[in-house]
Amino acid sequence: MIQRRLTISAAAFAICLGFWTHRGQSDEQPVGKTEAPKDIPQYTDKGELKLPSKFREWIFVGAALGLRYSEHGPYEDEEKFTNVYITPPAYAQFQRTGTFPEKTMLAMAVYRQGKKKPLGKRKLQGAFEGEFLAVELAVKDRANSKDAWTYFDFSPQEGQTALRKSAKAFATNKCFDCHAEHGAVDNVFVQYYPSLRRLQKPTK
Ligand code: HEC
Repeated sequence: MIQRRLTISAAAFAICLGFWTHRGQSDEQPVGKTEAPKDIPQYTDKGELKLPSKFREWIFVGAALGLRYSEHGPYEDEEKFTNVYITPPAYAQFQRTGTFPEKTMLAMAVYRQGKKKPLGKRKLQGAFEGEFLAVELAVKDRANSKDAWTYFDFSPQEGQTALRKSAKAFATNKCFDCHAEHGAVDNVFVQYYPSLRRLQKPTK
């Protein structure tokens, strides 16, 4: 009996500890102090952005289907799914102030639509995120760029399947201008991301 009680308190303690550690690493984290290096932009000696390969562990803000302008990316044949993630310290600041801090990174993962395979007599309806095609990055890092935001595309080079390990910044007129014109908040398409949209302060 005593042993059982001990086990229960140990389990309760472990849960509390987990909760604490979890809180310490997420939204409540002070910006710019203790964030892990995976949360801030890293560059090669040539000034190319290194692929932040753990972007899927950032905060997921929204998904879209075929939401793109014709110049945007090489995939014009079918509507693609996109998943957008933001670095946790940037999310925390946006939650507090409605602004994106320096070193914010947003990643947009692009997926082909999954094929609808018949299942016995029943036909599968709808579409799911199939083959992973590319990831594009938006980075706010004035210390390393002449523009407030810089844009990168890590999609595989022609004839390759693996993502690029590093990518060059695009010229302002390729990406920045459309984002500046149509993005709801500071170049970012907040209007399409439910988790950020709900945090927007009402404008008077
Ligand atoms: C003509 C307009 C237009 C151009 C040009 C454009 N984008 Fe975008 N971009 C969008 C739209 C619309 C979204 C929201 C799409 C979604 O969520 O699927 C978006 C979202 C993004 C996001 C997610 C973060 C954010 O800022 O909202 C990234 C990253 C991104 N684009 C990268 C790029 C890159 C890299 C280029 C240049 C090669 C580029 N974009 C050029 C319209 C544009």
